[in-house]
Amino acid sequence: MRSELERDFERFKRELPGDFSDHVRETYGIDLTARYLGATIPHPIGKGSGQLSLNENQLADDARAGLAFVVLKTLIAEDEAGSQSMAAWAIHETKMQVERRHAAGGRPGWTVTWKGRGWDRSLEEYLALVRAGRDLTRAGRLLVVPSVKYHLPRLEEPFRDGEYRYTTRLLADAWGDDAPPLLVEKDFSPTLAGDSLAGDRDQILRWLREVPGRIRAASPISVRVAVKLMNARFDDAFQLEMIDACRDADMLVCFNRLFDADRSVAYGGWDLSDRNLRVLDAVAPGVRPGLCGTGNICSGRMIVEYARRGCESVQLHTFFQLPLSEYAATHGSRTQRALHALLFDPRDGLVAALLALAAAGRLERRDGALHFLDLAAGAHHPG
Ligand SMILES: Cc1cc2nc3c(=O)[nH]c(=O)nc-3n(C[C@H](O)[C@H](O)[C@H](O)COP(=O)(O)O)c2cc1C
Repeated sequence: MRSELERDFERFKRELPGDFSDHVRETYGIDLTARYLGATIPHPIGKGSGQLSLNENQLADDARAGLAFVVLKTLIAEDEAGSQSMAAWAIHETKMQVERRHAAGGRPGWTVTWKGRGWDRSLEEYLALVRAGRDLTRAGRLLVVPSVKYHLPRLEEPFRDGEYRYTTRLLADAWGDDAPPLLVEKDFSPTLAGDSLAGDRDQILRWLREVPGRIRAASPISVRVAVKLMNARFDDAFQLEMIDACRDADMLVCFNRLFDADRSVAYGGWDLSDRNLRVLDAVAPGVRPGLCGTGNICSGRMIVEYARRGCESVQLHTFFQLPLSEYAATHGSRTQRALHALLFDPRDGLVAALLALAAAGRLERRDGALHFLDLAAGAHHPG
């Protein structure tokens, strides 16, 4: 299998086959089936919300590359009168810098430095993108998911339900009730860490308890809600408290980027994955929503690290933005080149990592195959 994998890695450098999940099942006896917000997807790799899911061309490219899902850029909610309580997040900023970032222990990784925030165009343009995403989802080509930042009140204030109602209804109308169910990610952005709203723990816990229900109540059609958790300014114990407060969410995305207070920017790299994995390790056994991992996922081995801690899928941003010279593949879009490395790298790819777990007796074959989802199913069980 090792030489088979090396052969695949070499030949797929020029072109990644569109049906690579079938190929992996047939060639390696590995079932990559994964799950995102209750939807079954052919493999676990998706794109996180951000600057790489702003238009229809990006969606079409990603569908062609065979990505499992894409979360659209975060929309800033508005009410009927067009007022946005989180307007400070709808700022325009284009320049992104892909940079090396050394972790606290010195290990070099990648980060994207960018001072922008949410969607900065009109709601109508966003709805057009949602309709394009719905068509791809309905055709089974790519699962597309809108992301929204709604009003987050101070502790003594009420929620502005007008924003929840108006924005959610328009999203639901654009999606339609004859398509697969509407899925929504609620972003608690890392930039919150630099905002005064982020300084009060009780306030944050109230949002997490109440927001999923408010989105559901605002939708005229059935909707499943994922909460994308930030890395708050507090300690690991508070990350766990946040998870505990999210009992009403259908899925959690763990965890968005860290915040560099000196430079006033969000960042990733090894510090981010170290923290995320450490917190996920400490999640208590028992009932909780499904998990999707995010943060410094640059290899199949890292996908396995998140999966072994309960993540049924992963969403990446930075690894889709590296300089072309960083990918072994010589042809194709950045998404294709990234998938090629994440899946087929003979040392660090997902196929190699799953075969290594099986060889070490840490993943059993079932019905003659290794199942990616068995990793998450084995996590957080007592004992
Ligand atoms: C330039 C940039 C813009 C982003 N914008 C958003 C956003 O609008 N909403 C959101 O939920 N996450 C946003 N993210 C976070 C990513 O989706 C992702 O969760 C995070 O960067 C960690 O993954 P990574 O280490 O693979 O980049 C953004 C990330 C980057 C780098």
